[in-house]
Amino acid sequence: MEMPFALTGKVALVTGGSRGIGWTISRALAAAGAHVVINGRDAKALDARVAELAAEGLAGSAAAFDVGDEAGIVRAVEQTVERHGHLDIAVANAGINHRVPLTEFATADFQRVLDVNLNSYFILAREAARPMIRQRGGRIIVVASMMGQIARPGIAAYVASKGGAAALTKALAVELGEHGITCNAICPGFTRTDMTQIMQDNAEVTTWVESRTPLRRWADPREVASVAVFLASEGASYITGHSLNVDGGFAINA
Ligand code: NAI
Repeated sequence: MEMPFALTGKVALVTGGSRGIGWTISRALAAAGAHVVINGRDAKALDARVAELAAEGLAGSAAAFDVGDEAGIVRAVEQTVERHGHLDIAVANAGINHRVPLTEFATADFQRVLDVNLNSYFILAREAARPMIRQRGGRIIVVASMMGQIARPGIAAYVASKGGAAALTKALAVELGEHGITCNAICPGFTRTDMTQIMQDNAEVTTWVESRTPLRRWADPREVASVAVFLASEGASYITGHSLNVDGGFAINA
């Protein structure tokens, strides 16, 4: 039987892949058959993740760099193509948040969030597009957020970066479609990771998330990762420019 979701023989690069959603995506892509190049800033943490994959019989390697360093992204894409001959899937996932009221929001902090959450996505997509154009195909997956469609107070840079990431996805899709490259965004809702630990630790906030979400619970990172596998697979071959909400219905709940 044809397996439209298998990624056998594919090579993927995932930014911010050492923990949380990025790690879970990395593991899911590897479980579907891909070799996954995992990015993060901590080489030791990445090596441990690569060993975890190997222990499961899955293929991966590490690429340690800060996504704020353009040269790091350029080099990682070049080295991946040198080693494997191709790059099929690029996942722009690394992200940060900065929570502070607008009137106290320093320009440098706004810029820092944009650098990681949006500029690095643009740079990764541009660099990944070069080999993908030569290959006449590829998948670019952007991890945006429902907090690019709706907003909460105190996270102006995050909301702007995520709205920008979804818009960037459309720009990539219309420009790269003729090369057989699809570009889609995943927009997770409240997901249990380190990024939201501060919210999870607050009983009031946790209750609010659960009561406000139609599915009445937080997302598990695996529920985001499975969508990345789908978008990377042949099963999603005619989907491009789309932002797929994985939010338990949060964003459409009036
Ligand atoms: P996390 O904080 O657990 O993981 C973020 C990852 O990005 C970490 O591996 C971190 O080391 C890496 N990273 C951060 N700055 C980096 C840099 N300069 N260079 C390289 N790597 C860097 O957060 P989580 O939740 O796994 O977030 C992953 C993505 O999902 C982010 O883009 C986030 O905005 C997005 N997201 C998360 C949601 C949630 O509720 N957790 C909801 C919607 C979107």
